[in-house]
Amino acid sequence: MITAVILVSGRGSNLKALLEADLPIRVGAVIGNNPQAEGLALARQRNIATEVVDHRDHPYREDFDGALAAAIDARQPDLVLLAGFMRVLTPGFVTRYRGRLLNIHPSLLPAFPGLRTHRQALQAGVKIHGCTVHFVTPQVDQGPIVVQAAVPVLPDDTEETLAARVLEQEHRIYPLAVRWFAEGRLTLQENHALLKDGYAPLDALVNPSGS
Ligand code: GRF
Repeated sequence: MITAVILVSGRGSNLKALLEADLPIRVGAVIGNNPQAEGLALARQRNIATEVVDHRDHPYREDFDGALAAAIDARQPDLVLLAGFMRVLTPGFVTRYRGRLLNIHPSLLPAFPGLRTHRQALQAGVKIHGCTVHFVTPQVDQGPIVVQAAVPVLPDDTEETLAARVLEQEHRIYPLAVRWFAEGRLTLQENHALLKDGYAPLDALVNPSGS
């Protein structure tokens, strides 16, 4: 069974979805950059090892990433998962975990990278929005796409209602991607996410209506 380390900054609903998906992974630790992160409390309740690497203790980004990498490497993970981890990581850090670092982003990348993605979607007037699991590369929110899920944008949507609709899909596709990785079917090849056994075309779009 592979070992995963999960990084959180806040609420931890994606962490919860990963922990409840009965995945073939061992969670070596949940690491947070903010001691107050609810995700850390959630992990503690489940007797999962936790650690805090507080970015406020490391004024320089490189130092923070060095401390974070040391905490991660101590667990010898096969996979590192960003689950609502809100720090931009240095190219050195990202390169160190190339091919084994995944992120969930609340938009259909490459549309709406960065923050406030639901507001960006509403302002752009798109009719379809969603979320993306991708391998992390040094260019923020531009790594090879593993799986996406789409949701409709409804006429009376607010940022909150749209975020909630997208979040429901995040909780479906992140565990799906991690399962693929844990089963040895998902790899990073050059600049593409490769899914073995021909599942990619069927599973790449998760229909918002379910099933
Ligand atoms: C999610 O929308 C995730 O896609 C984004 O930040 C949010 C974190 O939510 N990166 P949670 O902490 O997993 O509940």
